[in-house]
Amino acid sequence: MTTHWTPDSWQQKLAQQQPIYEDPQEVQATLETLGKLPPLVTAWEVDRLRKQLADAAAGNAFVLQGGDCSESFDDCNAASILRKLKVLIQMSLVLICRSHQKVIRIGRIAGQYAKPRSAHMETRDGVELPSYRGDIVNRSGFTEKDRRPNPDLLLRAYERSALTINYIRALSEGGFADLHHPENWDLEFVRNTPGSRKYQELLERLSDAIRFMEVVSEAELEQLTRVDFFTSHEGLHLLFEQAVTRTDQRKRGSYNLSTHLPWIGDRTRAIDGAHVEYFRGIRNPIGMKIGPSMAADELLDLIRVLNPENEPGRLTLIHRFGAEQIGAHLPQLADSVHRAGLNVLWSCDPMHGNTQATRSGIKTRSFDDITAEIISAFRIHHEAGTRLSGIHLELTGEDVTECLGGPANLTEVDLQRDYRSQVDPRLNYEQAMEIAFLIAEQMK
Ligand code: PEP
Ligand code: CO
Repeated sequence: MTTHWTPDSWQQKLAQQQPIYEDPQEVQATLETLGKLPPLVTAWEVDRLRKQLADAAAGNAFVLQGGDCSESFDDCNAASILRKLKVLIQMSLVLICRSHQKVIRIGRIAGQYAKPRSAHMETRDGVELPSYRGDIVNRSGFTEKDRRPNPDLLLRAYERSALTINYIRALSEGGFADLHHPENWDLEFVRNTPGSRKYQELLERLSDAIRFMEVVSEAELEQLTRVDFFTSHEGLHLLFEQAVTRTDQRKRGSYNLSTHLPWIGDRTRAIDGAHVEYFRGIRNPIGMKIGPSMAADELLDLIRVLNPENEPGRLTLIHRFGAEQIGAHLPQLADSVHRAGLNVLWSCDPMHGNTQATRSGIKTRSFDDITAEIISAFRIHHEAGTRLSGIHLELTGEDVTECLGGPANLTEVDLQRDYRSQVDPRLNYEQAMEIAFLIAEQMK
């Protein structure tokens, strides 16, 4: 692992979950085009996020990371982006006001287009086609044409990421989240739930605070009125990630400039695999998912490879065990990392360990399992002498019916009403807001 790193040194290792294209020359030509396009983020922004994450790991801020399981090209439109931004900003408002902590907002957005799949092929009614791997690789329709990995989609995904981040920047800088425009804070779908009543009360208190400047300190006001918004995606498709990696001479390092925070998925974190090789060499702050199959020794080895300088803010560990399993896995891992003196930021993904299928075969998650895992995560870190400094959620700003339970107590029947995700089930708007209140409670 101490061998020389280059943006393509991962190609000497085994790369899991990569699409197989028909025409390697076409792929090569596309990657060259991609490499010449302007970056989506700058090394300065990336460095700023790393510093902020170090601050969070030290107990001075909380990371709110969330968005779709997988973005879709069809949803790259103003209304959808606005709603995603809005729900994250409103959640952060709840966290800031209730916990009096800074919040770092990171979207699973502007590039979350590649998905790991459990099988390479999918069979329906005796027909076998390549699995859908996200809009950056192929399309979700079940025809041969749709499922053929198409290199052109690499460019289409990058362009949509650019359109998305451009709109986010315009909204953020144009005062979208400025408290002096309370219409931006209006909840659209949430009406008569406990969460909406709490939120309404909070807004009223806040408006008073803004008017009289009594409650909110100067630092808090600055946090509220200026919105920093960072992007993240799973760095899964390594040819793509390599093509968007730029070496910045002045900063003396290679940065993935398609996103601020790329992360390694739970299925691709093999220590001798291609993903770990790619990630160890980029200067971005990075995330790594941790599921139930992670052993303590393996985790320590991975941390040392991915963060050899033990740099604060560099590595975010996102654990996703499930409500039932977190108690059997997290205590030992947290304790080992703590005792080894390794600097990491701990975040909890209460989604991916809690996926289940209904009797009729619909993929869903229960709100109660999600909240149970969050509560356990806060408690276990507290007991281990570590700190839970972040949350990683799959959510949407829409009124979808994909997860069971929550304020409106959605049932299996409700799932048929508005289930839109092509991949994992997301929290809807009011479920997400309710989670924000729960986290704020736990942070205290
Ligand atoms: C995801 O975040 O969508 C995902 C696939 O998660 P994990 O790698 O934790 O399974
Ligand atoms: Co997912």
